Amino acid sequence: MIFDALRPQPPDALLALINQFRDDRRPGKVDLGVGTYRDEQGITPVMRAIKDAERLLVEGQRTKSYLGPEGDQRFVDLLKPIAFGAGEAHAGRLRGVQTPGGSGALRLGAELVALARPGAKVWLGQPTWPNHRPVLEAAGLHVCEYRYADLATQSLRFGDMLTALSGAFAGDVVLLQGCCHNPTGLDLDEMQWEEVARLLTRRGLVPFVDLAYQGLGRGLEADARGMRQVLAGVEEALVAYSCDKNFGLYRERTGALFVLGGDNTAATVAYDNLLTLARVNWSMPPDHGAAAVRGVLESGDLRHSWRLELQGMCGRISAVRGALASLEPRLGFLARQIGMFSQLAIEPEAVLALRRDHGVFIAGSGRINLAGLRTADVGLFVDALRAVGALSNPASAQEAYEILQYT
Ligand code: LMR
Repeated sequence: MIFDALRPQPPDALLALINQFRDDRRPGKVDLGVGTYRDEQGITPVMRAIKDAERLLVEGQRTKSYLGPEGDQRFVDLLKPIAFGAGEAHAGRLRGVQTPGGSGALRLGAELVALARPGAKVWLGQPTWPNHRPVLEAAGLHVCEYRYADLATQSLRFGDMLTALSGAFAGDVVLLQGCCHNPTGLDLDEMQWEEVARLLTRRGLVPFVDLAYQGLGRGLEADARGMRQVLAGVEEALVAYSCDKNFGLYRERTGALFVLGGDNTAATVAYDNLLTLARVNWSMPPDHGAAAVRGVLESGDLRHSWRLELQGMCGRISAVRGALASLEPRLGFLARQIGMFSQLAIEPEAVLALRRDHGVFIAGSGRINLAGLRTADVGLFVDALRAVGALSNPASAQEAYEILQYT
């Protein structure tokens, strides 16, 4: 019996929250768990431009015949100027393939690295998106962690980051989140990006940028600036791009992986290897989400509508951050962070008490999805945090979190 050898697996803690929230019968429950944007009605909307593009797709699509492991190349080409800038400087060195979401792009990129350099090292700041490490390790990479943020003070540990990366060797990969850091909302500032860019170039390190929230922090251009700075100096890089959040396509699994090669020939070889890897993983990516994005980006009107709606979403997240910060001074840091997430230094029992006693669902790590909070629920949320003592001792909560994380 081959399956007898398998060990039971716990469900993914973050995704399990979706069901826990759904099964809770309390009418005033608040979902700040998994990272989806919700509007003031508590709905994760299909963006207007996507809906219009989908309508056009239903009418105009003539065939559903296969594309290929590269997916929709027009979609990939339309994303390029958005991610890399209008006069994108890498010309022949930058290639991209469509992937099933940003997660598919991460896995494909990790597999490319593993193929090129078996057992390669990837440097990963902590805390980070909980699936980063498993995805990288599943591809056979060796993960080295460094402290990225201090939750007790809600600040970056930039010195620790520089020290760690100064100990990395040429050819090591550095996973960087392009914007709206998940889970902390703490991004590098312009000077820090510059410093990281210089360090990577000097030491011959390979950036693997995870760009999953472009447009949800400071705007489309500003959110890509740090990544562009890093890419400007290095010879090789990978970028995992997700359309799940900025096009609201979550379950459609829409993303792309870009590879920057040392020259045109190296980029072509890397691209061909991506096709081979895609073929043995998913053969071809699902079409619908990318086709809808292509429809949006090919039409001046739909592109305009998308940008406006995205700006509105971004504005709503900032407003929620501002409202929390002004209601409770101990949450003042929320107004200085950006994007959908922040991670509170909060004891595990307080996380459970929020859920049990107040119907407020946050991730076990203390991460809150601010994009899920309605302005109407801001007061309720702050009251719940106060009631469970979540704001009183961030230093000891940080310690408890670190013990959990690192033992
Ligand atoms: C999140 O971080 O909540 C999302 O990216 C969903 C996921 O796949 O974990």
